[in-house]
Amino acid sequence: MANHTELNNLMPKAFVTGYPVGHSRSPLIHRYWLDLYHKQGTYEPLEVAPQSFEDFIISLKAQNQSGQHGFCGGNVTLPHKEQAFAMADRKDTIASMIGAANTLWFEDNVLCATNTDVYGFCANLDEFAPDWAGGTALVLGAGGASRAILYALKMRGFERIILLNRTIERADELALYFGAPVEAYGLDIMGSLIHQADLIVNTTSLGMESHTSDKDMMPLFDFDKAKPSALVTDIVYTPLITPFLRQAHGLKTVDGLGMLLHQAVPGFEKWFGIKPVVTKELRDIILSDLGER
Ligand code: ATR
Repeated sequence: MANHTELNNLMPKAFVTGYPVGHSRSPLIHRYWLDLYHKQGTYEPLEVAPQSFEDFIISLKAQNQSGQHGFCGGNVTLPHKEQAFAMADRKDTIASMIGAANTLWFEDNVLCATNTDVYGFCANLDEFAPDWAGGTALVLGAGGASRAILYALKMRGFERIILLNRTIERADELALYFGAPVEAYGLDIMGSLIHQADLIVNTTSLGMESHTSDKDMMPLFDFDKAKPSALVTDIVYTPLITPFLRQAHGLKTVDGLGMLLHQAVPGFEKWFGIKPVVTKELRDIILSDLGER
């Protein structure tokens, strides 16, 4: 029979790395599932400064190749997603399209990378607004987060994707990159396009708790011109009901917390061997940690 140390040495170990990483709710999510499924394993936050990230990945690979019991993979958050993608040895199509990775794992001693934000975004809407896909989408924001959303909307068959950004050049760049049906415009003409949208998505940092100065500048959006059937969602979940969602009152809305919970599913499955379920209990745990209950 294996002793305690031997058991420890066999346990799959995963991490989340970022800078900073203290705000990450990923440890709560993965440890909840480890408990729920009675899985032996660990999931720990590792704060890695940008200048040390390259060495971190190099030592991750070295440990794996030397057969030491290192990490079997982990999550990557800001500001390391692009570098994680660049340093992975095998990247799937989604990560390659987005140019950033949030999930790493080893397969045959090869460091693999994917981006599960697309999965998380779709699964959240599938759960709370099952017939969300199709028609015309209006997307606010052309930053890093917008890429996953544009990919998701293309994949789920939207006929038109109207991309609006304060800095129109960034929207133009993304429209060119993703191609039809993405069209780019300035944020200032949202009022003249919103009536065409079946789905309205905020991917900007506007109204996010940590961006207090932006919060003050939250513009008023013309939700009164939207179709009564339009669905509105925000990928930000701090606060849970963002100023954007609050302005959309009267329309159906889906908050961004489900995207965080669902994006964790593929990673857990890869590291710990079971596809976990996003339960109401898990959502409640994260909500109380966010001070939302
Ligand atoms: P992320 O990777 O999280 O998407 P980002 O690349 O900094 O972050 O992008 C933030 C997005 O929020 C951008 O679309 C940004 O618009 P610009 O490209 O014009 O900067 C948008 N954003 C941030 N603050 C904004 C504000 N006060 N008004 C309008 N858009 C804003």
